[in-house]
Amino acid sequence: MKGRVLIIDSDREDSEALRRELQDSGYEVLTESSSGSGVEVADTFAPIAIVIDPSANGADAFVLLKEIRARQPHTPIILTARNSSIETAMRAIQEEGAYHYFEKPVDPEKFLVVLERAVELAETRRENEILRRQLRDRGAFGELVGNSETMQEVYLLIEQVASSSASVLITGESGTGKELVARTIHNLSPRRNAPFLAVNCSAIPDTLMESELFGHEKGAFTGAVSRRHGCFELANTGTLMLDEIGEMPSLLQAKLLRVIEERVVHRLGSRKDIPVDIRILAATNKEPHGAVRDGTLREDLLYRLNVITIHLPILADRMEDLPLLAQHLVTTLAAKHNRPARFISPAALDALRYHSWPGNVRELRNVLERAVVICSGEQIERHHFAPYPFEQRQRLRSEDTVTFPVGTPLEEIERQMILRTLDKTGNNKTKAAELLNVSLKTLHNKLNAYRARGLVSKLGEKK
Ligand SMILES: Nc1ncnc2c1ncn2[C@@H]1O[C@H](COP(=O)(O)OP(=O)(O)O)[C@@H](O)[C@H]1O
Ligand SMILES: [Mg+2]
Repeated sequence: MKGRVLIIDSDREDSEALRRELQDSGYEVLTESSSGSGVEVADTFAPIAIVIDPSANGADAFVLLKEIRARQPHTPIILTARNSSIETAMRAIQEEGAYHYFEKPVDPEKFLVVLERAVELAETRRENEILRRQLRDRGAFGELVGNSETMQEVYLLIEQVASSSASVLITGESGTGKELVARTIHNLSPRRNAPFLAVNCSAIPDTLMESELFGHEKGAFTGAVSRRHGCFELANTGTLMLDEIGEMPSLLQAKLLRVIEERVVHRLGSRKDIPVDIRILAATNKEPHGAVRDGTLREDLLYRLNVITIHLPILADRMEDLPLLAQHLVTTLAAKHNRPARFISPAALDALRYHSWPGNVRELRNVLERAVVICSGEQIERHHFAPYPFEQRQRLRSEDTVTFPVGTPLEEIERQMILRTLDKTGNNKTKAAELLNVSLKTLHNKLNAYRARGLVSKLGEKK
């Protein structure tokens, strides 16, 4: 069974016709002829979608819609009606969040496509909502941990890009969590049940990379003793993460660009088009425009991938996340190794705070993994980190400088500068306004404007 669908329509003939179509396609259907009973039934029947003719029983269509929305905020609503005005339909979609509108008689084929899409979207939304709640409670987003303003921005971006198939470029130093971000995007996307494959271009010799990515036919080159499927075929319908994209030879970057644009691959030694439906997430630990200047990244590929960029901050720039991250890692690693460690002593945490973390979260994880393994009690102490050579001075935080490519819109410079200053002041708005030399009121107004445009998450706001 594909799920339950509730139809609220006073016209028996219409609802019966639709019921038959939906049942034939594997849905379980319940029809209600009055809006009152429809609303009641919706609570217990737990439908995955609700189909409503707003003229059912002459009730005010909008009252009915509002009521259903309030009770079933995540269930998509599809409207069907005869001869109703386009204005009513638009209003229902815009104001009441109805998913789609069909003029009767309903074309069953189109209806089924829309229904499937609506259900998929609702599922993604529901999962995002769960994640958002987690985030509010624990400063985490999926497996990503961190409560800093910069990480909140990352979560918001992930949420925005997850549902589409757009390519995303993930930048950040080694160990900042690029692969984890890629996995999170995949897990939140409609492709989550299809494969996720991560290929590290710096780990594959140039000579083998083409066959690794695109596959080969038997005899395509010396040593090709049998046919081999490439990563594109293996990850088909899913997500392919290309890590360290700048390490890919230029010729292959050109081929990759063609695959992205034409959505077909050719195995080495074959001219046959193999259609692929793949979402590409590319990652690099270099500044991408710099990599273009150095000749390691093709400009045309960067432009194709750069539609959305998610930049991950270095750990030294989000030290306020350190306690949360460290605690999360201790819990996970203790479970993994079946060890008793549960907490980190304040002195030990201080020691971690002094370090500059050039290896970012990966380095933190390594340090804590070792400590968890050797710690025989519940509490991790400073000496469990020995002989780890912590430098006893803070690295110059790159937080104190912000760079923008030439031509960055002034508005964007202003926004980032405000967010970074807030980060530095630990979200103290009075201090931030002082540093930025604007009034507190101006700062508040700007933040409100960003929030209204969805450019900064409400949840990122600490009181
Ligand atoms: N925000 C984060 N929250 C929790 N764990 C993280 C976070 N960022 C990185 N990690 C962990 O640090 C390690 C390195 O992350 P990874 O995604 O491989 O980094 P990168 O691909 O940028 O080198 C992994 O074990 C990952 O789970
Ligand atoms: Mg990596």
